[in-house]
Amino acid sequence: MLDVSEIKTVEHDVLIVGAGGAGLSAAIEASSQGMSTGIVMKSLLGKAHTVMAEGGMAAALGNVDDRDHWKIHFRDTMRGGKFLNVWRMAEHHAKIAPDRVRLLEEWGAVFDRTKNGLINQRNFGGHRYPRLAHVGDRTGLEMIRTLQDHGIHQGIEVYMECTALDLLKNEQGEVCGIVCMWRETGTFTIFKAKSIIFATGGGGKAWDVTSNSWEYTGDGYAMAYESGAELMDLEFNQFHPTGMVWPLSVKGILVTESVRGEGGVLLNNEGTRFMFNYIPELFRSETADTEEEAARWLAGDPKARRPPELLTRDVVARAINEEVKAGRGSKHGGAYLNFATQRTADDIKKKLPSMYHQFKVLAELDITKEPMEVGPTCHYFMGGIRVDADTAMSSVPGLFACGECAAGMHGANRLGGNSLSDLLVFGFLAGKSASQHAKKITKYSEINKEQASEIIRNATTILNRESGTNPYLLHEELEQNMQTRVGIIRTNNELIKGIDHIEKIKESYKSVKAKGTSQFNPGWHEALGLRNLLITAEAVARAALLREESRGAHTREDFPGEREDGLKYNIVTSKGEDGRMKLIKVERPDPDPELERIAKSSIEDLENEIAEERKQ
Ligand code: FUM
Repeated sequence: MLDVSEIKTVEHDVLIVGAGGAGLSAAIEASSQGMSTGIVMKSLLGKAHTVMAEGGMAAALGNVDDRDHWKIHFRDTMRGGKFLNVWRMAEHHAKIAPDRVRLLEEWGAVFDRTKNGLINQRNFGGHRYPRLAHVGDRTGLEMIRTLQDHGIHQGIEVYMECTALDLLKNEQGEVCGIVCMWRETGTFTIFKAKSIIFATGGGGKAWDVTSNSWEYTGDGYAMAYESGAELMDLEFNQFHPTGMVWPLSVKGILVTESVRGEGGVLLNNEGTRFMFNYIPELFRSETADTEEEAARWLAGDPKARRPPELLTRDVVARAINEEVKAGRGSKHGGAYLNFATQRTADDIKKKLPSMYHQFKVLAELDITKEPMEVGPTCHYFMGGIRVDADTAMSSVPGLFACGECAAGMHGANRLGGNSLSDLLVFGFLAGKSASQHAKKITKYSEINKEQASEIIRNATTILNRESGTNPYLLHEELEQNMQTRVGIIRTNNELIKGIDHIEKIKESYKSVKAKGTSQFNPGWHEALGLRNLLITAEAVARAALLREESRGAHTREDFPGEREDGLKYNIVTSKGEDGRMKLIKVERPDPDPELERIAKSSIEDLENEIAEERKQ
């Protein structure tokens, strides 16, 4: 056994892993509860993937349309999630989001303004009213800037470029620490903690075409899984309809939904506005079905229904996929997103400055004059670590999760903009309950030296073996496999082939070798992340095979349409006693009748009810 007694140990009441919007929100809350709070991140402070949520944070503030209300936001979220969301989480989110957004403003976020000086809100897919509080098309960036500024001044300890490897548990089976590796030096630190919160984001780097940045290697899912926690709903991976498709060097980079929110339209190579042909029954009564009506909506007619480009992301991504398959795709295999004829050049540059620059610099294209080429890109995980809706605690005591790495809030499909508000709401709730948990623990648990030593050995073996497989090549193989076999459209045969291939890559991974020393060694970091991606990818593919229906972002060509019994269960994944991945269908509890009534009401009835409530 490796002697770990010389390894530096640091103690915190609450330790957070991940410094995006969720991690920072959790850290701020924990430290405001008087907890000694640390935040560990494998990247740099301010460089979290949260910045990729460009278009805004959804909250029923009602600043642009005062008919908005938490009940309507909740209804939209449940319908967007195809009713598979954890009802209570969607309720918390819709009720708490407005206050968290206003608090962010108090902490210094400089939102775009309405003429009356209120936080401005824009339209996004699946949201009935303009609901996304935004800062041009850089909202995620502003969120991170504000939270880190606030957090630092509150005294949170920050550990940058520090990769979490695996969790430590005490004799009672509670999480009591985590082993981390400093990327610069390759040395280790053991963090002892009374509560640990994962805010580690998603795992989109398992796919070839993705909007996700290098950090998104499913670390939280894999570490939670290895520690015995349950994962849930991993079959639901969101493909954002609009990623860049050309040039290849930028394929997958996000083209914010705000382009459509501000009036951009999707065209095929025949110039047809094809989304009119893809309106699902569930949204028919709320979606414009003619160009004239869509134009009235753009001109601000409050009675006009939303254009079909603002249908939910699962619908739009599949529609683009269909057009390409039918031979009506754009030159480089996507669709055309035209903004130039919908808005003036000044408007475009003012409202979406990043998009203007992104295309100008990366694609040599002026979006004020020409259409963009866009196509689906892997963007977001609806599934993740299974948590309690009120406390955010996982099935392992002491381990909490929030943000993208937690499951439940978004069901089978997330509405754009609900992610940033999710980070604020559930980061806050996780910070609060992790603090309550920590307050009940009087002293730090002793570290189990054998556990710590094994974690370190697992990591260093990658460097120490004489020869072996190249982690970059294995990662590339995984990306191709997931892209072709576990993509937007799935079938039994392809999923089985995909799983077989993951098993093969797992075998090769057993002899993965990173050349060089432990000091800032990207090959080693790549190999460490790859373990997590492989666990994530396997969980996704196996859950996708088990769910024999098409719901939200999970489309099975061999099982078209939703099945009634599909609403009755979640797929829960854990590590079996034999070390193999175990998946079971777990019955969902009945929804609270009042929440069910709200979500299933017609929009007219709900609006009348809210209007009546407001008169009283
Ligand atoms: O399109 C976007 O700006 C992304 C937002 C989101 O994923 O919430």
